[in-house]
Amino acid sequence: MPTVTAEAADPREVAADLLVVPVFKGGIEGPGVQPLLDALGLEGFPVTPSFRGDIDQSLELAAPGLAVRSVLLVGLGRMDQVAPERLRHAAGVAAVAGRGARRVATTLPQLDAGPASVEAVVEGFLLGAHTDRRFRGRPDTSGPGGQPVADLEELVVLVPSSRLDAARQAIAHASTTSRATLAAQDLVNLPPDRKRPPELADRIAALVGDTCEVVVRDEAALAAEGFGGLLAVGRGSSAAPRLVELRYRPADPLGSVVLVGKGITFDTGGLSLKRGGAITEMKSDMAGAAAVAAVCSVLADLDVRLSVTGLCALAENMPGADAQRPDDVVTIHGGTTVEVLDTDAEGRLVLADALDLGAASQPDAIVDLATLTGSVITALGQYAGGVLGSDAELVDELLHAAGVAGEDLWQLPLWPGLERWLESPVADLNNTADGPGGGTITAALFLQRFTRGVPWAHLDIAGPAFLPPELARGHLRPGGTGYGVRTLLAWLERRAA
Ligand code: BES
Ligand code: MN
Ligand code: ZN
Repeated sequence: MPTVTAEAADPREVAADLLVVPVFKGGIEGPGVQPLLDALGLEGFPVTPSFRGDIDQSLELAAPGLAVRSVLLVGLGRMDQVAPERLRHAAGVAAVAGRGARRVATTLPQLDAGPASVEAVVEGFLLGAHTDRRFRGRPDTSGPGGQPVADLEELVVLVPSSRLDAARQAIAHASTTSRATLAAQDLVNLPPDRKRPPELADRIAALVGDTCEVVVRDEAALAAEGFGGLLAVGRGSSAAPRLVELRYRPADPLGSVVLVGKGITFDTGGLSLKRGGAITEMKSDMAGAAAVAAVCSVLADLDVRLSVTGLCALAENMPGADAQRPDDVVTIHGGTTVEVLDTDAEGRLVLADALDLGAASQPDAIVDLATLTGSVITALGQYAGGVLGSDAELVDELLHAAGVAGEDLWQLPLWPGLERWLESPVADLNNTADGPGGGTITAALFLQRFTRGVPWAHLDIAGPAFLPPELARGHLRPGGTGYGVRTLLAWLERRAA
C-alpha cells in the first residue's frame, strides 16, 4: 500500500506529480483551487458538460510554473450536500483518473479538515488506487512508452497546521481500515481454483498472522463434531470443506462477539445447477468469510478491546458424483435436521453449523455476513446490503456503523409469519421456503433457528459484495469490494469504546 502523510504545505509549493483539488457543482472552487488558478494565470477553468463539478467528473490541467506536474480538478457535486461519503467517492474518482502518478497531494479534506473527512479521503484514494496484477502472466505495457503504469507510492494530505496531529491519527486509522478492505477484496478476487477450501483456510491463517489464534477443522474434525451442513455442501467437491475459527483475545476485554462468514469458494448450485449467467461471479460467494477474516486481521492494530471469534465456513458447492441430492436430510451441528429441497440454498446450511457453534459460547452478540440470496438484489439492487436481526438495538448499531463507514445498509423485516414455510414433512426444517417470496426474509428466519437466543444480526451482502465493471464507481472498483469490513470495524470499535 502507498504511504500516506499529512503536511501543512501551500498547495502551490508542494512537490508532487499530481495535485488533486475539489470543485463543486456549477464550477464553484473548493479549497486550494483559486490560488492555483491564479498561479496558472487562469481566470477560471472552462465549465463544460464534461466538467462542471459534478460527482464522478474530473479534469486534468497542465501546471506550468507550479511545483506539481499537473492539477486534477475533481467534482464534489452540490456544495450543500458534501459529506464524508462524497469525499470518499471523489477521492476514488481522483485515484482512478490520476493513475500513473507516483506522488499525489490533495486539498480534498480541507472543506472542514476534520478526522472524518481525512479518513474518507484516504480510504477513497487507497481503495481507488489499488490494482491487482497477481494473475498477469505478461509484463504490463499499457503505460506511456510501453512501460507499466506506475503505482501510487505516496499520498500527501494537505491540512492546516492546527489539524496536523488529528489528521495523522485519522490517516493511521484509515490506512488500517483500507488495508483490511483490500485484503477482503484480494481474497474475493482470487480465481476459484486458487481458493478451494483447504487453500483458502491457509490463506486466511496467513492473513491474520498472530493477531488471532487459528483453529482449522478439516473434514475429519467436522465429521467427529457433527458439522453436517458443511459436510453435505462440500461432498460434491473433490476439495473438502473447512471451518476456520479465528480467536482474538485481548487483555481485559469489555465483551465478546462472534462473527460468522459464508465461505462458498464457488457456488455452482450443486445438483440444482445454476443456469445461464447465474453461475458467473460465483467465486464471490465467499465474500462474507473474506470480510470476517479481514476484520479479524486488524483487530490488534485498532486495539479493539473485545473478545472476537471469527468463524469462516468454507465449502465448494459442486455437483460431483457424491454431491448431496435434493430430498437428502442433513443434521446440523447441535442436532437440528434439514430437508434439502434445493442444493443451491447451500449458504444457510454451512452458516447454520457455524452459527450453532458460535452461539453455543453465548457471546454478547453474533453477526453473520453472507452473499445469501438473489432476492436481496431484487429488493435493494447492488447498492446496499440488507440487515435483519433478532435484536433491534443490535440492528440499529449496525445501521449506524454502516453510516460511519460509508456503506449502504438497509433493514428488512424478519416477519415471523413467514416461518411456517420453513416446515418440512420429514425433518425439522426445509432449506428453501418455496412459496411466499421474500427469499431474503425466509433465509434469515432459517438462520435465526441456529442462534440459541443470542442477540443476532444477519447481513445479506449478495448485492454490494461484487460489482461488474458497469456498476463500478468512485472508490468501488470492479470485482470484490470488501463490503462489510469497514461497517463491522466501526461497529466493533464503537462497542469497545
Ligand atoms: N450464492 C447464492 C446467492 C447469490 C445470488 C449471491 C446472486 C450473489 C449473486 C445463493 O447460494 C443462492 O443460490 N441462493 C438461492 C436460494 C434459493 C435456491 C432458495 C437464490 O437466491 O436464488
Ligand atoms: Mn447457491
Ligand atoms: Zn451461494
